[in-house]
Amino acid sequence: MEIKKVGVVGCGTMGSGITQVCAQSGYQVVVSEINDELLNKGLAAINSVLTKSVDKGKISQQDKDTTLDRIKGTTNTKDFYDCDLIIEAAIENMELKKKIFAELDKICPKHAILATNTSCLSIIDMAMATSRPDKVLGLHFMNPAPIMKLLEIVKTIATSDETLEVSQRFGKSLGKTIVIGQDTPGFIVNRLMMPFLLNAIRMLDAGVATREDIDTAINLGLNHPIGPLALADLIGIDVVLFVANAIYEELKDPQYAPPVLLNKMVTAGWLGRKTGKGFYEYK
Ligand SMILES: NC(=O)c1ccc[n+]([C@@H]2O[C@H](COP(=O)([O-])OP(=O)(O)OC[C@H]3O[C@@H](n4cnc5c(N)ncnc54)[C@H](O)[C@@H]3O)[C@@H](O)[C@H]2O)c1
Repeated sequence: MEIKKVGVVGCGTMGSGITQVCAQSGYQVVVSEINDELLNKGLAAINSVLTKSVDKGKISQQDKDTTLDRIKGTTNTKDFYDCDLIIEAAIENMELKKKIFAELDKICPKHAILATNTSCLSIIDMAMATSRPDKVLGLHFMNPAPIMKLLEIVKTIATSDETLEVSQRFGKSLGKTIVIGQDTPGFIVNRLMMPFLLNAIRMLDAGVATREDIDTAINLGLNHPIGPLALADLIGIDVVLFVANAIYEELKDPQYAPPVLLNKMVTAGWLGRKTGKGFYEYK
């Protein structure tokens, strides 16, 4: 099966980036939002990223125009009727995702692959909301999707070899390096990253070192581009709590149990960069 047209559900942080990278790689893309305001906001974000790339000389004005020409925004899910692959990038909520998958199953062609960009939720649960669990899998893009080289492909126990193979080819056509993980909580990246972030928070709470020294130690000692506390602020403290809780719920492994400080920060509204305060303060 050849993928020509891609659908993306949601034009937020991830959906806009996924739409951009697919269009830049030559695919026709239909991207949906729940209303015109959010759709226009998402499309404007893509336009702005591409304009900056033109200004920096990374792409030509013509590259930008061709990319934008390949993107069609919609608020009507029925516009996915002729897509070969649909990537769901709506908010991280299982009930909503199951509803979206059931709807896509009715609208999309029989051959279409239905993928989710979920960070940690069970993909087989979404697959079972459709009549084609063999054609459902995870395509977990990293943030920002156009820049990050990794694509984590997540295979459920029902995903067929053909679906996996077509998806690998698709990922490579976007210029991504692919890793394949099983449909287990947090897959590969978040399963490894979460204990790391949570332990940094526990260390800070226990007074082992200052926030700056914890981050500098990892930044310069392990050559990570950013320390774990600054990274938690970037991801969003509420998102870190949500992902930790979701993995803990399934595995009951104490290394994923959210530290008290994390809960308190979310209660206080210290959600990281997006609210101007997390482990650090942002202007
Ligand atoms: N932000 C990250 O760093 C990151 C990284 C990897 C994966 N993810 C995952 O990607 C998904 C999206 O995350 P995000 O950060 O882009 O969230 P976001 O809140 O920025 O965007 C989600 C968008 O989906 C839209 N939406 C909700 N229901 C919809 C529907 N029925 N139809 C169309 N659009 C709908 C919302 O209006 C919103 O604009 C989540 O599952 C998240 O876990 C996020």
